[in-house]
Amino acid sequence: MKVGYIQNSPEFGEKEKNFKDVFNLVGDLKADLLVLPELFATGYTFKSEKEAEKLAEDKNGLTSRFLKDLSRKTSATVVAGFAEREGDKIYNSSLIVSRGKVIDTYRKIHLFNKEKLWFSPGNKPLKVYDIDGVKIGVMICFDWIFPEVSRTLALKGAQIIAHPCNLVLPYCQKAMTTRCLENRIFAVTANRVGNEKRGKDDFTFTGGSQITATDGKVLSSASTEESQIDIIEIDESKANNKAINDYNDVFADRRLEYFEL
Ligand code: ACM
Repeated sequence: MKVGYIQNSPEFGEKEKNFKDVFNLVGDLKADLLVLPELFATGYTFKSEKEAEKLAEDKNGLTSRFLKDLSRKTSATVVAGFAEREGDKIYNSSLIVSRGKVIDTYRKIHLFNKEKLWFSPGNKPLKVYDIDGVKIGVMICFDWIFPEVSRTLALKGAQIIAHPCNLVLPYCQKAMTTRCLENRIFAVTANRVGNEKRGKDDFTFTGGSQITATDGKVLSSASTEESQIDIIEIDESKANNKAINDYNDVFADRRLEYFEL
């Protein structure tokens, strides 16, 4: 199957411009799975809860409409970050969209830094989506630092983790080689580039979007500064084999009796 990332450089609050930039980056490309960054259309560096509220949408809003169009245009399942409003709560979420339809949203479980000031922590279980026979799990950015997230998704059958990000620290890409190796899964980490200087915050996003294989090999690595799209062919069925040699299997060999706290 063909999987890829779209690494964009959003301008804070300028959704329409950011949609157009993504559309232009994609051109006529087709894929089976495309992952976009966390909060790819709003930008990241909110100054207040009010600001986050203003840019948040429900799962059938403007961003959803754009992603539905993108999924039709590319034939891909699209996973992309947005600020989700439900009732009086706002979540740092990802939409999962396929064939012009919203499948679900994932709400980031582990909020990073000041995200805790404007977002509520995710309140839905980690889930694996079977889309056209491919098992896709979703986590968002800082979820990577908790190995339990990738492990849970892998144990639930995920072959690929779609991983929208807005990374400002340099550790994640290297860590994803371990996350993939220890679970024998693929991951598509879609990061953004650019800088946001807002209020007291000044963030430079580190790009380097990455596709990582079940053996920890980096199959694609994006620029640290430029917007970029890459789509590659993978054999997702490799993620079904948890053996690393004739004698070891990363799932079957776990000594659960020693994992008690
Ligand atoms: C992050 O979770 N955006 C670092």
